[in-house]
Amino acid sequence: MTFTKSLIALSTLALLAAPAMAGDVAKGETIAKKCLACHSVKDAKNKVGPSLVGVVGRAIGSVADFKYSDDMKAYAGTAGAWDEAKLSSYIENPKKDVPKGKMAFAGIKDATERADLIAYLATLK
Ligand code: HEC
Repeated sequence: MTFTKSLIALSTLALLAAPAMAGDVAKGETIAKKCLACHSVKDAKNKVGPSLVGVVGRAIGSVADFKYSDDMKAYAGTAGAWDEAKLSSYIENPKKDVPKGKMAFAGIKDATERADLIAYLATLK
């Protein structure tokens, strides 16, 4: 009995201690609805914005047939590729890293929401 109790206590502890670092893909998919007016998540087609398929790890401003703003091209020159940190910063406030960029989006201020969204974006292949 005591053994069972301590086992339960231990597993509860393990659950509580599970790192909350990785985002929740399912929640991220819901959050991504905010992007769908301008971005495809299904195929390589561009809408108002470039396709987000494969965006995690992709070189910034690199979709061949999309006309990026000059500011996004300049950012691409200094920042390289979209990793989690750069995506999070851009999605938090698109004007921070690309002040004259043409993504007309207010940003997502909640860090957990951004982590969930980026976990989802990483599944788009
Ligand atoms: C109102 C339309 C609009 C909405 C909504 C929008 N975007 Fe964009 N997005 C754009 C445009 C336009 C660009 C190109 C920006 C530029 O060239 O300066 C862009 C560029 C991007 C890029 C850079 C892609 C690349 O190829 O380098 C990422 C990443 C991105 N958006 C993510 C998102 C995410 C994630 C959301 C939802 C949370 C979102 N966007 C919502 C219009 C939008």
